[in-house]
Amino acid sequence: MKILVATSEAVPFAKTGGLADVTGALPLVLSEKGHDVRLVLPEYTMTKKWLDSNPQFAVQRINGIDVPIKGIPIKCIVQELKHKNITVYLIKNDDYFLRDELYSTKSGDYEDNAERFIFFSRAVLKMLRLKDWSPDVIHLNDWQTSPIPLFLKTVYKDDPFYSSIATILTVHNLGYQGVFNSSELELFSGVNPAEIFTMDRIEFYGKINLLKSGIVYADIVNTVSPKYAQEIQIPECGYGLDGVLRQRSHELYGIINGIDYDTWNPSTDREILHHYNLECLENKRLNKLNLMNYFQLETGTKSPKIELDEKIPLIGLVGRLAAQKGLDILAEVFESLLSMDIRLILLGSGEEKYHRLLQKIARKYRDKISVNFGYNEELAHRIYASSDMFLMPSHYEPCGLGQLISLRYGTVPIVRETGGLADTIEEFDPLSGIGNGFTFTEYSGKALLQAIKRACYIYQHKTDWQRCISNGMNQDYSWSNSAIEYVKLYRRAVASKVRSSGIQKL
Ligand code: ADP
Ligand code: GLC
Repeated sequence: MKILVATSEAVPFAKTGGLADVTGALPLVLSEKGHDVRLVLPEYTMTKKWLDSNPQFAVQRINGIDVPIKGIPIKCIVQELKHKNITVYLIKNDDYFLRDELYSTKSGDYEDNAERFIFFSRAVLKMLRLKDWSPDVIHLNDWQTSPIPLFLKTVYKDDPFYSSIATILTVHNLGYQGVFNSSELELFSGVNPAEIFTMDRIEFYGKINLLKSGIVYADIVNTVSPKYAQEIQIPECGYGLDGVLRQRSHELYGIINGIDYDTWNPSTDREILHHYNLECLENKRLNKLNLMNYFQLETGTKSPKIELDEKIPLIGLVGRLAAQKGLDILAEVFESLLSMDIRLILLGSGEEKYHRLLQKIARKYRDKISVNFGYNEELAHRIYASSDMFLMPSHYEPCGLGQLISLRYGTVPIVRETGGLADTIEEFDPLSGIGNGFTFTEYSGKALLQAIKRACYIYQHKTDWQRCISNGMNQDYSWSNSAIEYVKLYRRAVASKVRSSGIQKL
């Protein structure tokens, strides 16, 4: 199939979270399966930096295009490069994209996000004409590319070049919808506002909702785990869009994410000191000793440089410091947790209030906890490889990649049973030997603490612990299976497009 993956971020060009991991890895696997897959994203400051430090990837300037915004043509340049068999298009408009962050909501600098991504969405479609390449399907991701099917079904609906392109929208996180004032309607140049600003289109409590435009106009919608696909159809998790999602429930699917097994591989990972696999876990212990020494955490022995007290587990956490990630309940039990014989290493960046809270606790328990702020790819790899346990007490989690990476690194996940965490992690039962982690349901510090205590108890029983680790390491969360599911969805999207437009294509 001819597949265009349109995204606001993709590894290695730009990343704020798991979305970039997904859009960076899925195209590679689809291409290995013989499909013509191409990727398009904006060129940000972060992208430029990556290109500058990787000159072997020669960027070719294709041409300039004009994109109408509020009726005015705005210029951008389409650039192209080959990355591991994939053709990547970069949309370059420095006014919109040459910024320090991708779409931060922290400062007022990103108040033009509606304009930036309505522009990007339309530029993607114009770029296809420039390349004279009409894909079978465009795979959209989150609110930033959600205007694409709206344009296809309004301004381009009678244009034969575009009329047979099917669309599928993947919702990675319903908590981010791209909601803007209704005055931004004029950004949709050439579209009749009265046609789209209705309750069954993109109107959302008097505002416009870009994610809703994807949900309403795309041929097929999916989310990143079967459980989350169910959850978002109920008011508690639907963030106001559950009704619209219920209306599309017959075309709403859930496909669990994979992880890139080349990037995340403890036996080849270039970021870690000692490589290991299931047959030789001794090196994992050496990574742990090394990282604990590096952060000057108390190892519980007289010769900390070379010895570790085997009874003390190291717990890792890597993630965005946002309410979604369960930091409130973690904060509730920090003191009790740190009174236990454990060590903690945290890496993340996000909301100021969590930074302050973590700084305070780090000062108090210097020997037991290391708190690291910022985005640090290398340290993330070292934490996954060195920790015994990995914490994801998420309030909600569409899929979650941290627990999948942890399974691959023999690091036992402790998670709240929600979304993709519930679909991938099963409580370890020492009697049957089944299970790959520790889980809790109630969103409370108490339930989290109990799960950590259960994990610490099993940790002291090395045969059981080893069993739990091998259950996880033996699982396959590579992209291979999920990519097959995506191809099925693409075909469904094309079929549904053919049915709705009567076009002869298949
Ligand atoms: P989300 O997309 O909601 O942030 P996921 O679990 O799906 O959560 O994916 C997060 C990805 O980002 C993982 O690859 C994780 O290792 C990475 N990550 C998150 N925070 C950091 C950080 N501060 N430094 C390095 N990598 C990070
Ligand atoms: C989102 C979700 C996360 C998911 C990721 C990739 O950021 O919060 O759960 O794994 O997207 O799909």
